[in-house]
Amino acid sequence: MKENPIGIFDSGIGGITIYDEIHKLLPNENMIYLADSKNAPYGGKSKEKIIEYSVKNTEFLLENKCKIIVVACNTASTNAVKYLRSHYKVPIIRVQPAIKPAALKSKTKTVGILATNGTLESELLHETSQKFAQGVRVIKQIGEGLVALIESGKIQSKEMTNLLNTYIDPMLKENIDFLVLGCTHYPFLIPQIKNIVGDKVTIIDSGEAIARQTKVILEKENLINKTDKNITRDFYINKSPDVLQIFLDSYQENMKAIKLDF
Ligand code: DGL
Repeated sequence: MKENPIGIFDSGIGGITIYDEIHKLLPNENMIYLADSKNAPYGGKSKEKIIEYSVKNTEFLLENKCKIIVVACNTASTNAVKYLRSHYKVPIIRVQPAIKPAALKSKTKTVGILATNGTLESELLHETSQKFAQGVRVIKQIGEGLVALIESGKIQSKEMTNLLNTYIDPMLKENIDFLVLGCTHYPFLIPQIKNIVGDKVTIIDSGEAIARQTKVILEKENLINKTDKNITRDFYINKSPDVLQIFLDSYQENMKAIKLDF
């Protein structure tokens, strides 16, 4: 069981930002990444649909013997993890927008969160803001269109810059000093976002926290892989693998995106 892989899924290629943090912290773990890009973005879909896709992704990872599932998608985490945890025995890790650390550290008592509609409207986000952001204004902004542009490889486009300016400028006017990236696709945009916010605003995502949480749970369940032999990392995608391959190539570790009929 210890040598079985960690299974990670996202609605698309965004969860690669989570894969990357987990791999940095746990380099001896076998991993399977599943990008359900055919159904991305999940953000505007109903809770029932998001649960249906999340179940399908989880079943795929379990068929491939995963010992733990990391839901590397905020939209699926906020909408489907309760359901998954009540139906599957393996540990299920979820991502969560980092509102708590942002609210704790904010000096202007105003933080921004950029996320999908599905995440911003979720009960979990509402509860987190109530619990951890008392006395702090949380300015919510839907990142409409950002996931679709990233999925089609248009990170550096004019269209992307325009959208980011439209979403972030009003938050700057509200005097935010922290910007929470509540979608696992968005860390790919950090260089562009930095150009817009300068150094007055700290950008926070949840990648490192999720990696630490994954390690804690694996240790607790006695599931840490003890060998460093024949480590495999498989990346599956149910749409054209081209954009995912560009990201994998950037690691220069000869990793291949595999197209799947799924
Ligand atoms: N990476 C997903 C997330 O974190 C993208 C959301 C979507 O598919 O709309 O929410």
